[in-house]
Amino acid sequence: MPFPVERPRRLRTSPALRRLVSETRLHPAELILPMFVKEGLTEPRPVASLPGVMQHSRESLRKAAADAVNAGVGGIMLFGVPSDKDPYGSGAIDPGGILNVAVRDVVSEVGNDTVVMTDLCLDEFTSHGHCGLLATDGSVDNDATLEAYGRMGVAQAAAGAHMVGTSGMMDGQVGAVRTALDNSGYQNVSILAYAAKYASAFYGPFRDAVESTLSGDRKTYQQDPANLREALREVRLDVEEGADIVMVKPALPYLDVISAVCDMTDVPVFAYQVSGEYAMVEAAAANGWLDRERVMLETLHSIKRAGAQGILTYWAAEVARLL
Ligand code: PBG
Repeated sequence: MPFPVERPRRLRTSPALRRLVSETRLHPAELILPMFVKEGLTEPRPVASLPGVMQHSRESLRKAAADAVNAGVGGIMLFGVPSDKDPYGSGAIDPGGILNVAVRDVVSEVGNDTVVMTDLCLDEFTSHGHCGLLATDGSVDNDATLEAYGRMGVAQAAAGAHMVGTSGMMDGQVGAVRTALDNSGYQNVSILAYAAKYASAFYGPFRDAVESTLSGDRKTYQQDPANLREALREVRLDVEEGADIVMVKPALPYLDVISAVCDMTDVPVFAYQVSGEYAMVEAAAANGWLDRERVMLETLHSIKRAGAQGILTYWAAEVARLL
């Protein structure tokens, strides 16, 4: 028998052949751009730990959203940074709160040309920085928070959000939001459930972007990075409660979770390439230690190869243009 028997290298001999047999292809429609809007800004302000990412003014958000849509991104995920925070996160529910007015702005700008999504969580709006309301002993009160999430979801839907992203990791949050939306006539507003969201140190730069006031951590509600089966339980519950899409977050350090979730559910599975994942690459590239563009695409291919059908990434508009 001639040796070698098989020659896998034969299919790698030219760019055309490699392209022909590529198993994973990125498409702009699967990329979702997270964007920040800060109340009271007149000019966009760069986020130091997220090079290239801005805290937008209402005006610059409209323009950046339109640019991203022109580049072909599949969706936009909006985060609001209010000027005033209180223990109840009232700004999240107020129709005049920054996130709700920004949703109106963006929907009137890009209409139905993309999917406008909102972060449905209280942490940007609470003075203590937790994702929920606090009980008198200082712990995060799950069931009181559900009621607030329901009202927040209705406010976002009333502002025109197409999809709400339940990211607070309270038990029962998807069911509570689904019920609240349905009771207010928003049956067609869908829920992107941050189903398996880990208590990750990779969220550091995001907390700069939203000027987080959190002291302490989120370990009583977000998942332990050591756990995989627990993620499957969270996904099962969210789907039972009515999640339209489930998400794993962060992405690159949790490819095994993405893959396992894809095996166990028939709803679309998304992944969130979070701020720290982005910042690591940007920082290394700025030092000349990594080829920025190649690493950027490699990470996204890996997340897609693991099974994610949609990816939230701060590179969404850039990669959409590149493709
Ligand atoms: C919660 C929320 C967070 C992120 C998205 N939604 C922060 C957290 O859970 O502490 C992090 C996203 C990122 O790091 O890019 N509102």
